[in-house]
Amino acid sequence: MNLTLKIWRQKNANDKGKMVDYKISDVSPDMSFLEMLDVLNEQLINEGDEPVAFDHDCREGICGMCSLYINGEAHGPDRGVTTCQLHMRMFKDGDTIFIEPFRAKAFPVIKDLVVDRGAFDRIQHAGGFISVNTSGNTIDANAIPVEKADADKAFEAATCIGCGACVASCKNSSAMLFVGAKVSQFALLPQGKVEATDRVLNMVKQMDEEGFGNCTNTGACEVECPKGISLENIARMNREYLTASLKG
Ligand code: SF4
Ligand code: FES
Repeated sequence: MNLTLKIWRQKNANDKGKMVDYKISDVSPDMSFLEMLDVLNEQLINEGDEPVAFDHDCREGICGMCSLYINGEAHGPDRGVTTCQLHMRMFKDGDTIFIEPFRAKAFPVIKDLVVDRGAFDRIQHAGGFISVNTSGNTIDANAIPVEKADADKAFEAATCIGCGACVASCKNSSAMLFVGAKVSQFALLPQGKVEATDRVLNMVKQMDEEGFGNCTNTGACEVECPKGISLENIARMNREYLTASLKG
């Protein structure tokens, strides 16, 4: 396939940035999107140009590092996949592909297609954990009964990889799907109930401080989430938050 790529280039956080056109040829439909960018970068290096900076790590849909807004969609046109799992067979010979960073006030661009998603880390640090007594008197986790339905829902929430596609897809740049998933994975389990009040209050406070917008129930986040995280998690977080607020 021969393609035209329109890629966001930005030297650093203070640079204004602009879209730049690139031609790439002989792209295999079996390549992943990131492999296609690797080929482009080799081409740029050979020509003495600066390669395009983009985030990646595992390249198998686990780490949440890859991002990219591709033709106006977070993680591109396929469903239930991250950018690293997106294949070039989703495009046609002669296509023009627009490639931009995830855009949100709370995700500032560092360089080209790389954004700072440290805000998610700070939300996690505010309460996305449980404190466990490791004094030697700990109870085996398997000894605490958990309803199968609750275990399944907690597991589904825990599959959120923190990629930020929900934020990038939301017209309000809301992080409610991400925070909803992180609150839910603990709220559904007995181990998570001990610190439930502080957790939801602290995580929501941090989310607001980071500059994420509010949820207006558009649902774009659920559509674009590569892990199929359900809006149900936002509703659960809202219930948890109300209960915690009433407790004071
Ligand atoms: S909820 Fe989905 S889109 Fe948002 S960070 Fe988690 S995995 Fe990514
Ligand atoms: S590089 Fe790890 S999820 Fe894409």
